[in-house]
Amino acid sequence: MAILRLAYSGELAAGYAYRGHWHSVSHPDERIRIRTIEDEEWRHRKLVGEMLGKLNARPSLAREIRATIIGRILGMLCHFTGWLAPMYGAGKLESRNITKYETAALYARACGYEDFIDCLLTMAEVEWEHEQYFRLRVLSHPMARWLRLWPQPAPKAAIRRSFNDKNKNVSNLSLATESGSGPL
Ligand SMILES: [Fe+2]
Ligand SMILES: [Fe+2]
Repeated sequence: MAILRLAYSGELAAGYAYRGHWHSVSHPDERIRIRTIEDEEWRHRKLVGEMLGKLNARPSLAREIRATIIGRILGMLCHFTGWLAPMYGAGKLESRNITKYETAALYARACGYEDFIDCLLTMAEVEWEHEQYFRLRVLSHPMARWLRLWPQPAPKAAIRRSFNDKNKNVSNLSLATESGSGPL
């Protein structure tokens, strides 16, 4: 449950941050792509919210408030920091989102929520596409050669392959949670 609550509020912050981000860029293709990414984050939030509902769990109010503030601030900062920093920050965060949904899918299987798995892995794949987009945008910048990028994720196809492999060892997963009521 904890990881889904984190994801739910994380998507809120991402949605607001990308709203500011696409408003701050001038290239039409970038505006369209980042606006689509914003829409995808809202869709993720809806899907994760539905999962929380099935678990009879509520989002953390404190996290929701914090995510709103962080997302709004990041979205506003995009207008002042220049082009590169928001692209870099988004790519780095997206790489973590891939792992977050991969981990949630493993926990879902461990807890017997088989019907969550495909949706969680699909969200990991969408986050992979987001990471790829921002990585390529950063690499297109003249300063890219002096930048140290975050670690490159494995190929997109590896998400489901890795899930199936790790699933064999799922019994070794730590089930510790902040709520103590199970990892999801
Ligand atoms: Fe997302
Ligand atoms: Fe994303």
